[in-house]
Amino acid sequence: MTSPIRTERHGDVLVIISDNPPVNALGAAVRQGLEAAVKDGVQDASIEAMVIRCDGRTFFAGADITEFGKPMQEPGLPTLVDMIEASSKPIVAAIHGTALGGGCEVALACHYRVAVASAKLGTPEVKLGLLPGAGGTQRLPRIAGVRMALEMTAKGDPIPAKKAVEAGLIDKIVGEDSLEADAIAFAGEIKAKRPIPRASEREVQPDPEAVEAFKKENGRRFRGFEAPAANIACVVKATEVPYTEGVQFERQEFMKLMMGTQSAAQRHIFFAERQAAKIDDVPADIQLRPIKRVGVIGAGTMGGGISMNFLSAGIPVTIVEMAQEALDRGAGTIRKNYEATAAKGRMKPEQVEAAMGALTPTLDFDALAECDLIIEAVYESMEVKKEIFTRLDAICKPGAILASNTSYLDIDEIAASTKRPQDVVGMHFFSPANVMKLLEVVRGAKTAPDVLATVMDLAKKIKKVAVVAGVTYGFIGNRMLMPRQVEANKLLMEGATPEQIDRVHVAFGMPMGPFQMSDLAGVDIGWHRDPTRIENIRDALAAEGRWGQKKQAGFYDYDEKRQPTPSPRVAEIIEDFRKKSGSTVREISDEEIVERTLYPMVNEGALILEEGKAQRASDVDVVWIYGYGWPVYRGGPMFWAKTEGYEKVVAGLDKHGFKVAQSLRNGAIK
Ligand code: 3HC
Repeated sequence: MTSPIRTERHGDVLVIISDNPPVNALGAAVRQGLEAAVKDGVQDASIEAMVIRCDGRTFFAGADITEFGKPMQEPGLPTLVDMIEASSKPIVAAIHGTALGGGCEVALACHYRVAVASAKLGTPEVKLGLLPGAGGTQRLPRIAGVRMALEMTAKGDPIPAKKAVEAGLIDKIVGEDSLEADAIAFAGEIKAKRPIPRASEREVQPDPEAVEAFKKENGRRFRGFEAPAANIACVVKATEVPYTEGVQFERQEFMKLMMGTQSAAQRHIFFAERQAAKIDDVPADIQLRPIKRVGVIGAGTMGGGISMNFLSAGIPVTIVEMAQEALDRGAGTIRKNYEATAAKGRMKPEQVEAAMGALTPTLDFDALAECDLIIEAVYESMEVKKEIFTRLDAICKPGAILASNTSYLDIDEIAASTKRPQDVVGMHFFSPANVMKLLEVVRGAKTAPDVLATVMDLAKKIKKVAVVAGVTYGFIGNRMLMPRQVEANKLLMEGATPEQIDRVHVAFGMPMGPFQMSDLAGVDIGWHRDPTRIENIRDALAAEGRWGQKKQAGFYDYDEKRQPTPSPRVAEIIEDFRKKSGSTVREISDEEIVERTLYPMVNEGALILEEGKAQRASDVDVVWIYGYGWPVYRGGPMFWAKTEGYEKVVAGLDKHGFKVAQSLRNGAIK
């Protein structure tokens, strides 16, 4: 096998080049090649300095994650970076793309760093439940200070080259098209300088105040995660002990995280997210349909949010409403949202104008005729949707993709109202649609492969994580939500309180529990709207106008700041229902809440897979992570069930009389 590493001589500078597509991950062959090349450079008397750079789209994007959990082939990354730093001849890292994780650590071990302006530098290991395990936690603070090292390691967001220069992490910005030549010239300038600057030899002062402030600022963000604290501990260690001791501590902490469940879950999600983009029975190179203009029907919260995704990606949108007032309100909300983003400094005023300039609000339904993709986002009524699709069928150009944003309804039935069911697909966005990352792409029985592939590709362009779902009531996510809600309500009748059930879910890591979610979404959503028909607790709340946060009353009472407190009135209503139904009230344990609200979700996920309504178990996990805030450190419901043990989950379900999916009972979930 040819080595991914080659070298070129430019006078007395040896350029070491990695070519390991797609992202120059630092797998064994790359590490071996780098070690050999640096050794050659050191031994060759005609070489005065070295440059390390990468071919392709990026500098090393990190350790090769696929090697994790397998025996490490020599040299390990920690050995390699120390060997690079120990070189008796100066080495310059020449960075483009993203120098991430182990890639950033290789750069920090080099004695100098030059980068193109568009490059980014980061240590995102924390997002994989890890920490930079090749000296990164020890070199970063020594170069950039404690605060910056905490930001970069414990939060994991990469920083742009300009910021890296300010932090002392990059010595010089070089030409976007002349990286290699400029790096060689730079190497010429520094080749004779002594002593060679080595990050590990630098000292860094402790900064307990910065550490405390950082922990306080990020307490919420880090809730439930193990890796941020380990990153912080390593950075602090760098201020207390010499490098050699610091890296030992780093290694110990790294191995603890690597062996733990959280990192396994986060690594699972890294690959699951990328796998979700693949459609099993559609060739990756299928010809896609061009999407130059998108039409959106409905300028309400959903339609507006959906439109923003395309506008932000530079794709023009025609948005259609039935009344001028609704249209104006919708367009006004879009502008307001963009301006709020600009006020926070996350968008430039000219970008706001560009996005708004690409929006065409209209009352003219026929204007949709020029669109390549039309997304219907009106309320959930099969009748209304069928009528809209019949109209679309009559006016849309041949080959246009007709999508519905329905959250529950049968895409096949909608498609049957057209003469082109092959062009019909579901695009289920999650609210707020401009923020939530998940998109369920619903494949109807007749949806054409190129339609599906086009929508999946488009999802990537608008920065969504898309998952293919089959036609089933509620698709993947909402279908799994239903058994959870049913059980949560039953538990209320048997003695649990909304507060207890929500607390168990929040302790599990969910952003909120089922009743908090109801209050946020609106207790009245899907209500039959007849205050005299009271069949359950929800009906009773809705009949009294307890519609949730928007009314400052739902399952909880809310103050002006939307802070919830348990509601005596709700307790009364629940008590009333318990009496009426004659149910015996008993103490409900937290464990029972988990078994009866979370295990049934896993069971439902297994049924969805058995029925072929999801392509793979990891897709179900992706839906719950990106659509509902399932804690990523638990890897999604299906991954979590595996870590709990399928047997335990099955036993819990059996204990409470659920009908268990066969694949779950057999442990045959894929
Ligand atoms: N190891 C192995 N495979 C990797 C990888 C890595 N570090 N990074 C990306 N890949 C793979 C992806 O799985 C994907 O494979 P596929 O085509 O088969 O699905 C392919 O490379 C392309 O990746 P993306 O689809 O993500 O490409 P993008 O262009 O959207 O993004 C990127 C590129 C920003 C580099 C992104 O891939 C990324 O963030 N990668 C992970 C970076 C990271 O976490 N590095 C730290 C690793 S841990 C580490 O270094 C430990 C050390 O401290 C000891």
